Amino acid sequence: MSGSLLVDNIGELVTNGAGEGPLGIRRNAAVLVEEGRVVWVGASAYAPAADHHVDAGGAAVLPGFVDSHAHLVFAGDRAAEFAARMAGQPYTGGGIRTTVGATRAATDDELRATVRRLRGEALRQGTTTMEIKSGYGLTVADEARSLRIAAETSTETTFLGAHVVPAEYADRPDDYVGLVCGPMLAAAAPHAKWIDVFCERGAFDVDHARAILACGQAAGLGVRLHANQLGPGPGVQLGVELDAASVDHCTHLSDADVAALADTARSDGSGTRTVATLLPGAEFSTRSPYPDARRLLDAGVTVALATDCNPGSSYTSSMPFCVALAVREMRMTPAEAVWAATAGGARALRRDDIGVLTPGARADLVVLDAPSYLHLAYRPGVPLIRQVIRNGAPQ
Ligand code: NIG
Ligand code: FE
Repeated sequence: MSGSLLVDNIGELVTNGAGEGPLGIRRNAAVLVEEGRVVWVGASAYAPAADHHVDAGGAAVLPGFVDSHAHLVFAGDRAAEFAARMAGQPYTGGGIRTTVGATRAATDDELRATVRRLRGEALRQGTTTMEIKSGYGLTVADEARSLRIAAETSTETTFLGAHVVPAEYADRPDDYVGLVCGPMLAAAAPHAKWIDVFCERGAFDVDHARAILACGQAAGLGVRLHANQLGPGPGVQLGVELDAASVDHCTHLSDADVAALADTARSDGSGTRTVATLLPGAEFSTRSPYPDARRLLDAGVTVALATDCNPGSSYTSSMPFCVALAVREMRMTPAEAVWAATAGGARALRRDDIGVLTPGARADLVVLDAPSYLHLAYRPGVPLIRQVIRNGAPQ
């Protein structure tokens, strides 16, 4: 769309910048957009003229959701595994290998269609930025093509060759780590911005995780990791040691883990350097205890919320669902949850141009079918996204 766009008659605007309360709320507001950027925010009554116009009709408007953790490149589903869990089976992560088999057997176009379908689904639920990981290929060629396909849809792409040790390397994990750090990283790096490791009992231990993440860093990738999902462990502290942008899951944390994350805020001064990204869809779908967001927030840790969209542990693309879960099950206030799903996700991707609606930010906006952001938690399961504007363009 060419020309300027004015969104006015906004009853409640969440800016995550200057304004009332932690969400920087402005009432009876308007936002002017030019060339994909917010150029003015102010009172609707004084809004400048523009080429195009969206009347929010008194509804709430917020920054588009930033989903900083999703696994969209895969084939098949694991509905039967979900049903077995709901009948009492535990989640171990072992089902990842089932999806690896299906993904290797799929054509590029099949994988591409799945990524597009899920990305479209998320967009309709207000997600304007979505990180996409590889991790179901686990060969040099399959990880490279997964990232090539992911990069067609997002600039936030993550190499997760270290998701699990594939069956053909089961009795020689050191050799697999060598493959990941060598030819697989070389093939993946041109299409990836980040590197990730599933650091967990049954996946990669802390020494392997450190070696892989260090190789990724040396190749110019930023660090993020899956840590402390299924039990306590050294993953979170490894993330802090390596200045990870985010440690994800954080379901089982010791006091020392929380303190280490909080300390990354103190040394930086401008907010936490290493964000704790909580993925309540995974606890929902694995029927596990939820992470204690309150403990992290009270310690001063920056918290993000993301979907973890994947066919095994969390097959949802819905950020509003995650917000509702975080409020109901994780002792977050609605304001904390909405911040975590927008600005928090941006911090987890080390971005300051998204997750906020202030002059200079990318014009990624969501118009709700509701008068307040509170309704995202208050009316769970209801389609409340009336309109999405991405990069200044109504979708
Ligand atoms: O983030 N924990 C590791 N990876 C995914 C699960 C993947 C799967 O079960 O297929 C997660 O939950
Ligand atoms: Fe994940």
